[in-house]
Amino acid sequence: MAPKLSHHIILEALFLLFLIQALFVKSESQFSKSLRLFHEARKGYTIEGLNHVKQYLEALGYYSIGGSNLTDDFDDSLESALKAYQQHYRLEITGRMDSDTMKKMSIPRCGVRDIFDYSNDGVKFITVANYSFFEGMPRWNKRQLTYKFRSSAHVISVRRLRPIITRALQKWAVVSDFTFREVRFFSRSDVVLGFHRRGHGDNYPFDGPGNVLAHAFAPQYGKLHFDADENWSSNNLTRFNQIDLESVSIHELGHILGLGHSRDPDAIMYAYYMPGSIKRDLSQDDIDGIRALYSH
Ligand SMILES: *[C@@H]1O[C@H](CO)[C@@H](O)[C@H](O)[C@H]1NC(C)=O
Ligand SMILES: *[C@@H]1O[C@H](CO)[C@@H](O)[C@H](O)[C@H]1NC(C)=O
Ligand SMILES: *[C@@H]1O[C@H](CO)[C@@H](O)[C@H](O)[C@H]1NC(C)=O
Ligand SMILES: *[C@@H]1O[C@H](CO)[C@@H](O)[C@H](O)[C@H]1NC(C)=O
Ligand SMILES: [Zn+2]
Ligand SMILES: [Zn+2]
Repeated sequence: MAPKLSHHIILEALFLLFLIQALFVKSESQFSKSLRLFHEARKGYTIEGLNHVKQYLEALGYYSIGGSNLTDDFDDSLESALKAYQQHYRLEITGRMDSDTMKKMSIPRCGVRDIFDYSNDGVKFITVANYSFFEGMPRWNKRQLTYKFRSSAHVISVRRLRPIITRALQKWAVVSDFTFREVRFFSRSDVVLGFHRRGHGDNYPFDGPGNVLAHAFAPQYGKLHFDADENWSSNNLTRFNQIDLESVSIHELGHILGLGHSRDPDAIMYAYYMPGSIKRDLSQDDIDGIRALYSH
């Protein structure tokens, strides 16, 4: 009896801590807030708003809606999508909205999907490596890329953005054959980087202050967008509630070069980003990934 009780109290305390932490993060999204309502939800439950979890998992590639309505029913498709998500992030595969799963989902992340090879049989995992590529392994067929800045929302000046992006590009340049050169605003360029908010013309609207921080497209499209509504930090004093622009830039540039998300939490290409953290060094997994992609 006693051990069971204390176990219960610890779990409650952890959950409370989680709530308090969540309350502290001012920029918390509507999605993160509503997650609490689904605590311990499982197959058979119907909870108002549960369709947002389906949308979240669908957007990340864990299942396809296939034209059907997203209801608030915790059905078979939600259970299997949740299991695939839990497997991908090495959580306990429960098929429920357990605390670990909710915690993971409440962390801000990159908006690029995790899974590209969804088939009707469900998610297929490549288990040999942690790094991944986009579907069909799109790559650049040249190694000298040009870039320029273009934003539709003002966050920081190009003068302050430039050295951050230069350093981020340098991280990839030293482990690959790529070189990068900035061109003028009106010139054609391979890569265009900038800040945008909400709907910005690419079918992937940003969500305001919240879950999605940025996204970028596979080669050879070259578009990299930061969500202007995040609390970006552009110095080296990133506070607990801020997003380190350089860390996220290195991640998004990995997508620009053709890398997908890595399952290795230490990798730059890991999809989630803990606010306040500075993560600016490529891991061996990132290096292995870029070398595997451009090894011939
Ligand atoms: C979708 O939901 C609407 C409103 O609840 C309903 O009228 C419609 O029949 C549903 N469509 C499908 C394909 O289930
Ligand atoms: C961003 O974070 C800083 C540091 O915590 C804080 O002072 C500032 O008010 C925040 N800005 C917004 C817009 O929330
Ligand atoms: C932050 O640190 C980097 C690496 O040490 C340095 O090159 C850069 O100038 C610093 N940025 C600012 C704004 O101080
Ligand atoms: C994948 O990452 C994990 C750490 O999350 C590590 O233990 C494992 O060795 C990595 N696998 C490969 C193939 O690199
Ligand atoms: Zn990403
Ligand atoms: Zn965009």
